[in-house]
Amino acid sequence: MRPLPALLASSLLGAGLGAGCSSDSSTGAGTGSSTAASASAAPLDAATSAPVAPTSARVAVRQGGALARGVGEAALYVADEDHRALRRVALPIRADSPSRSLELPGQPAQVLPMAGRVLVTIRDPSLLLVVAVDAKGDLSETARVELPPDAWGLALTKDEKTALVTSAWAAQVSAVDLGANEKQWSVSVGREPRGVVVREDGSVAYVTHLVGASISRLDLAGAGATEPPKVTPVLLPPAPLRSPSGVTLNASLGYAAVLSTDESRLYVARHALGALGEESWFGASTVDVLLTAGDTPLAPRRHDRLPFLRADKAPTGTELIVPGKPVSPFTQPRAIAYRASTRTLLVASEGDDTVIEVDALGLDPSRGVLRKLQVGSGYDPNLPVASTCGAPTGLALSEDERTLWIWCRSTYDLATVALDAFAPDRTPPADAPPPEVSVVRLAEDPLGDADVAIGRRLFYNATDKVTSGGLACAGCHPEGRDDGHVWHEAKFNTKDGTQLNFVGHQANIPAEEGVRGVPRRTPMLAGMVAAAGPYGWHGESADLPSRLNAGFGLHRWGGMPEHQAANLSARSGRLTEFLRRGLKAPPAVTRELDATEKRGREIFSDPDVGCAQCHVPETGYTNRVAYPLKKLPTLAAFDDEEKAAFKTPSLKFVGGRAPYFHDGRAASLEWIINNNTDDRMGSTKSLSGPDRAALVAFLRTL
Ligand code: HEC
Ligand code: HEC
Repeated sequence: MRPLPALLASSLLGAGLGAGCSSDSSTGAGTGSSTAASASAAPLDAATSAPVAPTSARVAVRQGGALARGVGEAALYVADEDHRALRRVALPIRADSPSRSLELPGQPAQVLPMAGRVLVTIRDPSLLLVVAVDAKGDLSETARVELPPDAWGLALTKDEKTALVTSAWAAQVSAVDLGANEKQWSVSVGREPRGVVVREDGSVAYVTHLVGASISRLDLAGAGATEPPKVTPVLLPPAPLRSPSGVTLNASLGYAAVLSTDESRLYVARHALGALGEESWFGASTVDVLLTAGDTPLAPRRHDRLPFLRADKAPTGTELIVPGKPVSPFTQPRAIAYRASTRTLLVASEGDDTVIEVDALGLDPSRGVLRKLQVGSGYDPNLPVASTCGAPTGLALSEDERTLWIWCRSTYDLATVALDAFAPDRTPPADAPPPEVSVVRLAEDPLGDADVAIGRRLFYNATDKVTSGGLACAGCHPEGRDDGHVWHEAKFNTKDGTQLNFVGHQANIPAEEGVRGVPRRTPMLAGMVAAAGPYGWHGESADLPSRLNAGFGLHRWGGMPEHQAANLSARSGRLTEFLRRGLKAPPAVTRELDATEKRGREIFSDPDVGCAQCHVPETGYTNRVAYPLKKLPTLAAFDDEEKAAFKTPSLKFVGGRAPYFHDGRAASLEWIINNNTDDRMGSTKSLSGPDRAALVAFLRTL
């Protein structure tokens, strides 16, 4: 490795200004929890009045984010995905603050500053980039390490020698030796790994997933330079206190997790699909706690066979009202930060342009919302999406934890919030004025088209009542991908009559209805919506805007307010533009196919097997026609559906987006081929074992 450029930390941000005042500060300088303290631990700065430069040269937050605070310098870093830029913003932020940016070889996902250099993950081409920062704040690339496709999350070991990187699309985690700037190992985990944290003693890392209720545990102690660690899925039921009794719900949007200072608790911010609540059609956002001592969830599961109590039926004074109000205290959690001085958690709520602060000591922290910071503003009365600070995506705290910075990804704004210190009782007084939010814009929409820019804002926005009833497009189609969930499309009695709506779990439907709904697996959109039409699982919508209009009516509880054609088309037209021009397709396989994959392609194209007749390669591996394939047994959680013709789905990116079919019954591509009995879909009966494997191998390259 080439030597690091020395960093002149001439202006120390907030040095000595309360950094040592709290016994629980994030350097781990506090209370008796120092079992893991190693020889290389940062010098303690408590009760020092002298400048504390050495502390600032150490990395306090060993986790990447879309936004992060520089180490040993007064600056913030932004991984600006849409502009393919790494931005450095000098502190304190002023409208004329010098801001520097480095053009990157692809879209960045996370940034993790160290002393004198910054680590950045790049999605496609998939890289860990090492960027040097000189004394003037100029940025230059010093090394790049190739990684499995779609590098995303980033964490650093305490000795600052190894970076762990998740690869979202490849479903792998890799270790990078930061001395040699070389990849050590990669290991497979579940679908869509995103956030990663590593314990101080380097023994264990936890990885969150965008899809599914489990997180992954990596045992690093036994891993060597090239020997990958053991991976264990750890089931962390989302919102167990708000789940139907006896049920472990599905989860999505597991973008982020954080450890408490003493590492006894891991906090995972996610979406609990089907959590109970009044009119809770989509479930609720949650922060779930894992006790790291035994990898057990903190909150117990609700007892089996408890009655399902609806809020409107609950006798007043009932202590535990599940469901209860509000439906969801925040929506689409995107980033999480631990505020050690107040033992609270800050969660970026992408859908409603807020950041919530919750009690980190709670059984279900998301039920103990201490305050909600409104960061979005400038809502147009007609298309009520924030024109300033929409879709908060990144969070960074100052060293004294009194200033919070927020990166808003749909408007490219950086917000600064002065958090008052509301210890010791940790509740701000009721009459306290809301903290002031000041905002600077770092860039304009990269596509330079006002309609696409609004489409982008609409895509992340959950507060516009016309597009949805509280969950944005990005809530089910994160980044235009999918939540891996099978929604229930059900007709039942809502507050305004009998309506056809989606629900996350059958228990979200009022008990007396006895309706379960028909299954609707969320489709992936990124790179898959270029065709004129038709759209919808039955191919029932002629084109994309009409599918979006139909969708607006489904994702909510009850009927659509302001249901006028002009209101719908104002949104669906702009969203259509954004879906086609603004979403990024997952990384495609561009290498030459190997012998097995080539054999698979032959089989796929063989007229006697028949796949290519419906999944036409020239048109995205679909002919977009709906076929009534032979009916399979009705799934237990769903109602039977009379209309049996489903549109041939495109097979693009099929290897990375299980489960399959409109009802999600197929967990894997192997399952599809091995259960294609009676040649229900193409003729696979007579294919040998190796030929089946070859067919699957080919499908994975699409
Ligand atoms: C509650 C989850 C949810 C939300 C919110 C949601 N979708 Fe969907 N989306 C689905 C499901 C499930 C389907 C499949 C329904 C069907 O086709 O019958 C779907 C289908 C689609 C399709 C059709 C794709 C195809 O190939 O046929 C498009 C396009 C789409 N959604 C775009 C959007 C946009 C844009 C938004 C925001 C306005 C949005 N969705 C919000 C779950 C959701
Ligand atoms: C008669 C048209 C037809 C033929 C022939 C056909 N398929 Fe399909 N395929 C469909 C339809 C329709 C679906 C969706 C069924 C559903 O959702 O219930 C589907 C679904 C799939 C899926 C799941 C995709 C997803 O996103 O859920 C895969 C994978 C697939 N087909 C592969 C194949 C292969 C491999 C062959 C050849 C052996 C084949 N198909 C032949 C019509 C066809």
